[in-house]
Amino acid sequence: MYISLVSVMMIATLSVCKGHREKICNVFPKDLHVEVGSSVELVCQTSCSNGKFFWTLNSKNISESLSKTINSTHIALSLRNFTQSSATVECRSSYMDQILGGIIIKTFSKPENIACVLPVKVGVPDLFTCTWKHRMNSSQTINYTILHSDSLDEICESQVPKCTSKDKIAWRIFSKSHNKIIVRAKTADWEVYSDPYTFNPLHILKISPPTWTVISPSLDHLSFEWNPCCVQNKCHCQVKYYKTSSSNDKAIKYLSRPPSPFSAITEDMESCIKYNISVRCVFNESLWSDWNQEITVLTKLKKRHIRLRLWRNVAKQGKNGKRKVHLMWKGIPSTCEEVLNYTIKQIPYGDNATTGNYTYTSCGSSSCDVDVGQNTQKLYLTVSINDALLAEDSVYVPALAQTGLPQVFSIQTTTHEGVIQVSWNASEKTISSYIIDWTHDGNQYYWKESTFTNATLFGKLESVYKEYMGDW
Ligand SMILES: *[C@@H]1O[C@H](CO)[C@@H](O)[C@H](O)[C@H]1NC(C)=O
Ligand SMILES: *[C@@H]1O[C@H](CO)[C@@H](O)[C@H](O)[C@H]1NC(C)=O
Ligand SMILES: *[C@@H]1O[C@H](CO)[C@@H](O)[C@H](O)[C@H]1NC(C)=O
Ligand SMILES: *[C@@H]1O[C@H](CO)[C@@H](O)[C@H](O)[C@H]1NC(C)=O
Ligand SMILES: *[C@@H]1O[C@H](CO)[C@@H](O)[C@H](O)[C@H]1NC(C)=O
Ligand SMILES: *[C@@H]1O[C@H](CO)[C@@H](O)[C@H](O)[C@H]1NC(C)=O
Ligand SMILES: *[C@@H]1O[C@H](CO)[C@@H](O)[C@H](O)[C@H]1NC(C)=O
Ligand SMILES: *[C@@H]1O[C@H](CO)[C@@H](O)[C@H](O)[C@H]1NC(C)=O
Ligand SMILES: *[C@@H]1O[C@H](CO)[C@@H](O)[C@H](O)[C@H]1NC(C)=O
Ligand SMILES: *[C@@H]1O[C@H](CO)[C@@H](O)[C@H](O)[C@H]1NC(C)=O
Ligand SMILES: *[C@@H]1O[C@H](CO)[C@@H](O)[C@H](O)[C@H]1NC(C)=O
Ligand SMILES: *[C@@H]1O[C@H](CO)[C@@H](O)[C@H](O)[C@H]1NC(C)=O
Repeated sequence: MYISLVSVMMIATLSVCKGHREKICNVFPKDLHVEVGSSVELVCQTSCSNGKFFWTLNSKNISESLSKTINSTHIALSLRNFTQSSATVECRSSYMDQILGGIIIKTFSKPENIACVLPVKVGVPDLFTCTWKHRMNSSQTINYTILHSDSLDEICESQVPKCTSKDKIAWRIFSKSHNKIIVRAKTADWEVYSDPYTFNPLHILKISPPTWTVISPSLDHLSFEWNPCCVQNKCHCQVKYYKTSSSNDKAIKYLSRPPSPFSAITEDMESCIKYNISVRCVFNESLWSDWNQEITVLTKLKKRHIRLRLWRNVAKQGKNGKRKVHLMWKGIPSTCEEVLNYTIKQIPYGDNATTGNYTYTSCGSSSCDVDVGQNTQKLYLTVSINDALLAEDSVYVPALAQTGLPQVFSIQTTTHEGVIQVSWNASEKTISSYIIDWTHDGNQYYWKESTFTNATLFGKLESVYKEYMGDW
C-alpha cells in the first residue's frame, strides 16, 4: 500500500475540510500489479477539495484526454498499454496544488522463450529440463510451476527460471508425440501464465557429447575420430577448432559436415601451431549435444607452407682471400618440433665442369655462415626431414669484381620511437624490388623486401645494407 508522506498529511488535513459533502479524497484501487501492456482504470474521489482536478504520472501531468469526470465527486483515469516497471500515479487538485491520493503501479510480464530439453545418456531420457525468460524487477519470491496445459498437472516447480523434473515425467513426455506446457509465475500479489509451448519430444532430445578416440597429426593434415553416441544413419557431427594463441579473437573455424559422423580430416591448419579442437553431434532433428572436451593438438610442419626467402650478407674479402657469407632464411616456425636437416650447397656459378664437387655445410635452423672465393657462387639451402626434401631455395653471390648490380644512392634514415624509416634514391634502371638487410649486433640479421624506394624497419639501427637482386 502506497501513500507518500505528503499525501498522507494532505488527506489528513483535507478530510476535515468544511462542507456539506463527505469530505474524503482517495484513489482506487490501491496498489496495483498489472501485466505489462495491459490497461489500467483508476478512480479518484475528490470530495475533500475544490479546484481543477488532474492526474500525474511520476509527477508529470497526464494528458487531460485520458481523464474523465464521472460525477461531482469522482474522476476517472484510463491508461492503455501500461509498460513501466514501476510508476507513481497521483490525483491532484490545482487548488493549492493538493495531492488527493496516489498509488504505485507495478507491472509484471509473462514467462517467455521457453526451451526444454530431454537429455539422453543411455537409451531413453530420464530428465526433463526447461528454462525460460522472465523480465522482472522485483525482489519478491516467485514460484514457478510447469504445468501440462490441458490437464494442468504439475510437471515441476522452482523459484528460478529453470526447472528439472525427473524419472517418470521425462518418460511420459518422451512417450507422447506432442506435448503442450505452460509456465505459471506466482507471487503473493499476482500470478501470470506463459503462452503455451508445444513440442515434439524427438526435437528436444539432446545426446551426450562425443568422446575422442584417435587424434593423429600427419605431415599434411590432421585426422581425428570420435565415438558419436548416436545411431549412424541419423547422426551428424560438427568439428570446431581454433588456434590457442589467438586468445582474444578465437577465430573459430568449423567443419560443418564432415563426410563421416565418426571422423574428420582438416587440411587448412597452419604448420606447427597448437589448435584446440572439439566436436559435437546431433541425432536426427533434435538438439546439438554440448561440445566435447577440447583437446590441444600441435600440427606438423607442412611442406607446402614453407617459403624460405633465403637471403645473404656478403662481408668484404678477408686476408685468406675468402669472403664470409652470412645466409639467413625464414619460413620454418620456431614452434616446430620436427628435427630438420638444413644444408647449404655451394656451386660455382656457370661452371658446369665441377659437377659433383660441391661444398656442403650443415647449418642451424635460421642462419649459416659459409666462405666463398672471389668468383660468382650460387648457394642452395635444402631443408629435409629423414632424407626427404621439404624445401629448397637459392641465392646468388656476385663475383668480387662484378659491378653489374644497379647502385642506390643517398640512403637516408630517420628514427622515431624505435621505428626506422629508410629511403633512398631510385636507380635509373628498372627494378623489380629492393632488399634491405640490417643488423643490430652483426650476428642477427633482418631483411625485408620493398618495391618502393623506402621501408619501415623496427629496432635499433646500426648499419643498413641495401642491394638489388634481379629475380630473387
Ligand atoms: C498540470 O495541469 C494542471 C491542471 O491543468 C495545471 O494547473 C498545471 O500547471 C500543470 N502542470 C504542468 C507542469 O504543466
Ligand atoms: C459518483 O460515482 C462513483 C463511482 O462510480 C459512485 O461510487 C458514487 O456513488 C457517485 N456519486 C454520486 C453522487 O453519484
Ligand atoms: C505498447 O507500448 C509499447 C512501448 O511503448 C509499444 O512497443 C507497443 O507497440 C504498444 N502496444 C500497443 C498494443 O499499443
Ligand atoms: C527496477 O526498479 C527500481 C526501483 O524499484 C528502479 O530504480 C529501476 O530503474 C527498475 N529497473 C527497471 C529495468 O525497470
Ligand atoms: C511458494 O512456494 C513455497 C514452497 O512451496 C511456499 O511456501 C510459498 O507459500 C509459495 N509462495 C507463493 C506466493 O505461492
Ligand atoms: C585449449 O584447451 C585446453 C584444454 O585442453 C584449455 O585448458 C585451454 O584453455 C584452451 N585454450 C584456449 C585458448 O581456450
Ligand atoms: C530424421 O528422421 C526422419 C525419419 O526417419 C527422416 O525423414 C529425416 O530426414 C531425418 N532428418 C535428419 C536431419 O536426419
Ligand atoms: C643432411 O642433408 C645432406 C644433404 O641433403 C646430407 O648430405 C647429410 O648427410 C644430411 N645430414 C644428416 C645428419 O642427415
Ligand atoms: C652449362 O650447361 C648448360 C646446359 O646444361 C649450358 O647451357 C651452358 O652453356 C654451360 N655453361 C658452360 C660454361 O659450359
Ligand atoms: C674438387 O675440389 C677440390 C678442392 O676444391 C679439388 O682439389 C679437386 O680437384 C676437385 N675435384 C674435381 C673432380 O674437380
Ligand atoms: C636524390 O633525389 C633527390 C630528389 O629526388 C635529389 O635532390 C638528389 O640530388 C638525389 N641524390 C642523388 C645522390 O642522386
Ligand atoms: C613508401 O612511400 C610511399 C609513398 O610515399 C608510401 O605510400 C609508403 O607507405 C611508404 N612505405 C613504407 C614502408 O614506408
